[in-house]
Amino acid sequence: SPHLTPVPRRVLLPAPRSFCAGVERAIEIVERLLEVHGPPVYVRNQIVHNAHVVADLEARGAVFVGELDEVPDDALVVFSAHGVAPAVEREAAARGLDAVDATCPLVAKVHAEAKRAADNGDTVILIGHEGHEEVVGTVGVAPDRTILVDSADAVADLRVPDPAKLTYLSQTTLAVAEVEAIAAALQQRFPAIKGQGAEDICYATSNRQAAVAAVVAEADLVLVVGSANSSNSNRLVELARTAGVPAHLIEDAGAIDPAWLQEAETVAVTAGASAPPRLVDEVVQSLAALGPIEVIERVHTRETQEFLLPQRLRPRTAHPN
Ligand code: F3S
Repeated sequence: SPHLTPVPRRVLLPAPRSFCAGVERAIEIVERLLEVHGPPVYVRNQIVHNAHVVADLEARGAVFVGELDEVPDDALVVFSAHGVAPAVEREAAARGLDAVDATCPLVAKVHAEAKRAADNGDTVILIGHEGHEEVVGTVGVAPDRTILVDSADAVADLRVPDPAKLTYLSQTTLAVAEVEAIAAALQQRFPAIKGQGAEDICYATSNRQAAVAAVVAEADLVLVVGSANSSNSNRLVELARTAGVPAHLIEDAGAIDPAWLQEAETVAVTAGASAPPRLVDEVVQSLAALGPIEVIERVHTRETQEFLLPQRLRPRTAHPN
């Protein structure tokens, strides 16, 4: 009733949310190169799957391309956080391009596992979404020995050369529960398969999912800040919807539809690992503009992970001569 003082809307902020260490490192690589080398710095694919990050770096002199043939000879090119197939690295080397690899170390780890399995004569079953850049890169490690699977149902239809020589791996940004279900189906159908459950899902992806899962029962609405092509952001939306709570993926505060908020007394706001923290602040400000709010931070896990920059970009240690 308009005669009563409105109860403040509760805004729950599950933590962690927003940038992970791999995304911070990838962005910092491009920023440092822009400083040290100056523009243009070519970047193959979006450095991370976020439209705001890409637009911001573009404004500072980064040039985003889809393929290496769009990069001029002798130019500097950065490979995105999602990783690249070895064939792309070979092409860059053959072209004499100065390539800087911003692949997240946790994606590089999955590449190393794929290589080891293929070198041992195994077929790699990769749990992942066809067409996602990370999957394209990981399949490219052993393209003739890798089979993609994206659901537990699809496991029944898999045809493998030798059921005794199999290793499964996964994309780093999937839903933990889904990968566990697919891994279980693989184990059941191929008892000799090697693999580690949902271990390839990165800490950032699993932590953001766990943090949302811990608050979703209290929320009437979940807003996930992230771009449409961000895998881990989409998984957060799915997680909320699976729990029966309406959820929306929003690029930024401008994408909020006020109609979503009409019955929503408690709103959880999170962000995928590629979405800048500033965008979450702006969402909270927009909610505040609609009426009184009470902001409550809900820390599920504290993240301390950091990744070193590539050697050539590390600040030189001062030492006496
Ligand atoms: Fe790396 Fe996971 Fe972030 S794979 S880039 S830490 S979402």
